[in-house]
Amino acid sequence: MQIFTDKEQITEVIDAFKAHQLTIGFVPTMGALHKGHLALVEEALANNQKVFVSVFVNPTQFNNSKDLEKYPRTLENDIKLLESISKDILVFAPTVEVIYHGNTVSQSFDFDGLEHEMEGKFRQGHFDGVGTVVKRLFDIIRPDNAYFGEKDFQQLQIIKKLVSKYKMPVHVVGCKIHREKNGLAMSSRNTRLTDKQKEAAAFIYKTLKAAKIQFGTKSADKVTSWVSSQFESHDVLKLEYFIIADIDTLKPLKRKAKNKKYRAFIAVYAGEIRLIDNIALN
Ligand code: PAF
Repeated sequence: MQIFTDKEQITEVIDAFKAHQLTIGFVPTMGALHKGHLALVEEALANNQKVFVSVFVNPTQFNNSKDLEKYPRTLENDIKLLESISKDILVFAPTVEVIYHGNTVSQSFDFDGLEHEMEGKFRQGHFDGVGTVVKRLFDIIRPDNAYFGEKDFQQLQIIKKLVSKYKMPVHVVGCKIHREKNGLAMSSRNTRLTDKQKEAAAFIYKTLKAAKIQFGTKSADKVTSWVSSQFESHDVLKLEYFIIADIDTLKPLKRKAKNKKYRAFIAVYAGEIRLIDNIALN
């Protein structure tokens, strides 16, 4: 397995791949890899001649310094996991200096309002940080196809917008959410949950599934109130938001329209760990 930490070496290798017209698949990650990430890598391996995985905990997308500090960093184990799938994967694990050149700040983006909804409201500056790092990584790796999980559905829509606004020749592929046996969406943050929190967190997906059924006959407002009431007296989980939104604009649904697609989005705290999830409603 080849592991790159600086831009010069990886650029040489990518130049050679491009000269031979090899297709490049790319899976950007912040490490602490789990089965959800590995599924993205499998998808990339199945559809590209070369596959890069980046492992980089991007400081500018954290609005909470404690979260950044506690974010799991497990590069050795990540490499072992990737090797267990294929020795041909190329890993890019740059330092903050390589990506930010001593100036660890985000560029400001206009994602046509997608950045102001949900996660954008509760995590100020988060999507500027994501946009900055993904744009820089795309400029370095120059992928044909890039793979992102639907757990971060808002991020996925924003990256599609980034690519279209900057006319980047990258096909952004969204991949379905992978779940633990109890339904909890896989996330690197899950490793920080206690057993009790993990068990309790099954309630998130259970509630999303029930909300989906209710959405068949009830208004978005009614479903939203019902979900809030379910969390009111929960002894482990604290609801931050539950929103039913149009999948294209990410704006909260006011009145259902026939030709529109909707998703329910949720953010919940288990102690100090923030968990997000979502479900397609129609
Ligand atoms: O989804 C993530 O892990 C991150 O937001 C990403 C896309 C790797 C950018 O740092």
